[in-house]
Amino acid sequence: MNKIFRTGRSFEPALVDLVIAARPNFMKISPLYRALSAAGICRLRLVHTGQHYDDAMSGSFLRELGLPEPDIHLEVGSGSHAQQTAGVMTAYEAACLEERPDWVVVPGDVNSTMACAVTAKKLGLQVIHLEAGLRSFDRSMPEEINRVLTDSIADVFWTPSADADDNLRREGMTESAIVRIGNIMIDTLETMRSRIEAAMAPGEQHEFGLVTLHRPANVDTHEALGEIVSALVKLSRHLKLTFPVHPRTAGRLREFGMMEALDAAPGIEVIAPLGYIDFMARVFRARLVITDSGGLQEETTYLGIPCITLRPNTERPITVSVGTNRLVARSDLIAAAERALSDHTGTGDVPELWDGRTAERAASHLADLLSC
Ligand code: UD1
Repeated sequence: MNKIFRTGRSFEPALVDLVIAARPNFMKISPLYRALSAAGICRLRLVHTGQHYDDAMSGSFLRELGLPEPDIHLEVGSGSHAQQTAGVMTAYEAACLEERPDWVVVPGDVNSTMACAVTAKKLGLQVIHLEAGLRSFDRSMPEEINRVLTDSIADVFWTPSADADDNLRREGMTESAIVRIGNIMIDTLETMRSRIEAAMAPGEQHEFGLVTLHRPANVDTHEALGEIVSALVKLSRHLKLTFPVHPRTAGRLREFGMMEALDAAPGIEVIAPLGYIDFMARVFRARLVITDSGGLQEETTYLGIPCITLRPNTERPITVSVGTNRLVARSDLIAAAERALSDHTGTGDVPELWDGRTAERAASHLADLLSC
């Protein structure tokens, strides 16, 4: 095995922490975990902060994606932003003091991404941001604050697209630290493709829409969530909808007394959150996706499926300029869905380096870093 050793510490392979925290992280870290394990260039420590903890939001993904039980579980759980961030920082600091990693890889833009990056840098550790450089330029989103803060201190930026590179250059980051590796979620999709296809109901028609919602701006106020629910009920008279409900959204639907309206609509199937394979099996078959997720904007672009994103902006503009994604105001949801259903003009293109080989490029770059 071609092991790379820590300088000054003979016979000890470098230690690399891979941080996971919330549902979208698992799809990004699993291909990297596999590629680094196969490369044998370092010792890996899988650190789960516990930001997501329900089996449906965490454990089922680890199992399906072939990730092992985490080496360290920080068990931070839910809370306000400050509580959650502080909890991750305190617990991750203790883990790093117990054994100092040589590099820390933080994925995406959740609270734990930023919390682990800040903790690591204050201990003098080196940080790689996986999915760096994305910007919505909307600081009312907690994720944008997490992205900007993480990138402002990371040592290496693994980016998915040219717009991310440009954002980092504009912010004055060193050119040599910006490494475009591509979109690592596509690696997961391709690795799991045969299992996803096997999970698809044979002969099922494409005539349904898939809905996911969890952004505070869409679900945390009565007005916003009410507007969406009433549009979905109307839309479901023409297009059957499947709606796996995120725990945040389920809580709000109950609190605002809106679950009944969804349950009463014969065209809407309200279900619990799905695992990766069952969820992607529905995405593969969907005629249309309505969402406010980040990852789903990318997966639909890759698959050429029309996507309506209920947001005024996106940190993933390439899914609009190149792919099938359209940003739509809540008030325009029904009209936008009708347009998408009647438009048969094409499926968009797949961005460069969204090719299923991103983890390979990341592992090869990490090998270069470790041998420096
Ligand atoms: C978090 C991320 C968001 C990401 C999303 C993916 C931040 C700021 N937000 O949002 O960027 O897109 O994850 O799902 O990091 N809950 C459960 N079980 C769980 C986890 C959460 O029931 O396993 C409930 C709790 O009531 C919690 C609420 O969902 O208070 C929200 O969870 P939280 O992790 O704070 O934010 P998300 O909305 O999931």
